[in-house]
Amino acid sequence: MSRSGVASVVRSPRFGDDWWRRGVVYQVYPRSFADADGDGVGDLQGVIDHLDHLGPDGLGIDAIWLSPIYPSPGRDVGYDVSDHRAVDPVFGSEGDFDRLVEAAHERGIRIVLDLVMNHTSDRHRWFTASRQARTGPYADWYVWRDPRGSGPDGTPLPPNNWVSWFGGSAWRYEPARGQFFLHTFLEEQPDLNWRAPGVEAAQFEMVQGWLDRGVDGFRLDVFNIFLKHPDTPDNPTRDGASAWDRQLHRYDIDHPDQPALIRRFRDLVDRAPGRMSVGELFVGTTEGAAALTTDRHLVFDWELISQDWRADAFRGAIQRRERAFGNDRWPTIVLSNHDQPRHASRLAATIAATGDERDAIARAAALVELTMRGTPFLYYGEELGMSDVAIPPEESIDPPAARISEDFGWWDRSQARTPMPWSHGRGAGFTTGRPWLRLGPDAPTRNVAAQLGDPDSVLACYRRVLAARGAQPSLQDGELALVTIDDPTVLAYRRRGSGPEILVAVAFDRREAEIRVPAPTDGGRWRSLVGTHRDPPAAIVGHEPWVLRPFEGVVLVADR
Ligand code: NOJ
Repeated sequence: MSRSGVASVVRSPRFGDDWWRRGVVYQVYPRSFADADGDGVGDLQGVIDHLDHLGPDGLGIDAIWLSPIYPSPGRDVGYDVSDHRAVDPVFGSEGDFDRLVEAAHERGIRIVLDLVMNHTSDRHRWFTASRQARTGPYADWYVWRDPRGSGPDGTPLPPNNWVSWFGGSAWRYEPARGQFFLHTFLEEQPDLNWRAPGVEAAQFEMVQGWLDRGVDGFRLDVFNIFLKHPDTPDNPTRDGASAWDRQLHRYDIDHPDQPALIRRFRDLVDRAPGRMSVGELFVGTTEGAAALTTDRHLVFDWELISQDWRADAFRGAIQRRERAFGNDRWPTIVLSNHDQPRHASRLAATIAATGDERDAIARAAALVELTMRGTPFLYYGEELGMSDVAIPPEESIDPPAARISEDFGWWDRSQARTPMPWSHGRGAGFTTGRPWLRLGPDAPTRNVAAQLGDPDSVLACYRRVLAARGAQPSLQDGELALVTIDDPTVLAYRRRGSGPEILVAVAFDRREAEIRVPAPTDGGRWRSLVGTHRDPPAAIVGHEPWVLRPFEGVVLVADR
């Protein structure tokens, strides 16, 4: 319960219990969104202060996903949690959290928390107890195994060949127990043993605590690795560029017991209607994401996040997604997040675009992201076309980046986690203090205030397209069918759902494209609804040829 003792519920949302399918989720990285107390680090009060940017008079999103807000020693910047039930004081108080839930709910915005349940911090009280001895209430709460033997010098050998995603063996020896513990990520992030009954009970109790405080959904960090093979056999090996890639992850990922665990988790969150969850698929395929998707439990699919800015690349990705998910399962749409390069930088780089072209691509990508079939997850700042920021190594805040080596082909995620620029001036309206991570060099011009005043900005485009999406049922629930256009540099698809039919056409090239589109399925003509440009080329478009400008995207609606 919140301090008032009554869990807040979302008021006048634009969608009902199916919001997770019709709506749009916005990821806030709390350290970098807005700093209200001037310590240079973003906080919950900062999110409250900027809800108007997100609410019905702003972008008009339906839910905020907050990256981890729990106390953390910061070895993996919040993904090493030392107490899942509390708010890290760096973000504010418990009361600030309850006020955020309440203030968001008042604007019809739901709150989705990031649950890191595969592992804890090594400072979590469960682990400090567990590592002390082979007996005691927490003894089997982590994945402990005996050494496989000892090396010539007597050093204990790891129990199997599993490797850590962040490089090196996935096992670390603990002399106090004479055993190794498993860490799929850093050694400061020991994996929990979900097969110990106490672990599931404790996790579910923690989840219930957040539900009682009015939380509307959860993002489950690396959810497909909660359960490992109980016998921890060696993974088969193969050729590959890194230690991780040189194994087939048969026994440490996607255990067949996982879907039943998610069902038990859903039974818990389904006690109240309208609560969603989304699982972060750890290194999986689109088919894997589709297989683990169930009603109200979405799964991130990474097909789109790795595509170049080419119509055929996006067409292929959409085809693979549609084939894998079919019409019964609901996909997610993700172009950026806190682990990946920002797409405004990444996509432009794939065709060496800079300056205005780069922003034109950010607008066109937004139109695709917001009109495809699936629930879009936007990453803070993408609505400004924010880029990755070059961070000198001594300023990096991403400890795994220090481990980058020939065998660990990672990147410094700090570059995609820089503070949100709200206005010009020192601190860019993000902070009155010294930002915890440097601002992008373009913050004086690329910021919310500046873009609000410019109808051709990336932000103006996001607001237009989000409004159109909110008003057109077929964009929210429709099936998707790719449409073949004479010009292969144009991506086009139809959406047919509970409202008028929609046709989307996007020019991926830096030259004009003359195209013809087929008529609406049930006859009539197309009316231009919204586009990347303020002045879409024609109000009414029939079968006649028409021209898309470079990187222009248009949404047409059937008009009888
Ligand atoms: C996935 C998270 O998105 C990432 O930021 C984190 O490093 C790993 N899981 C480990 O929690």
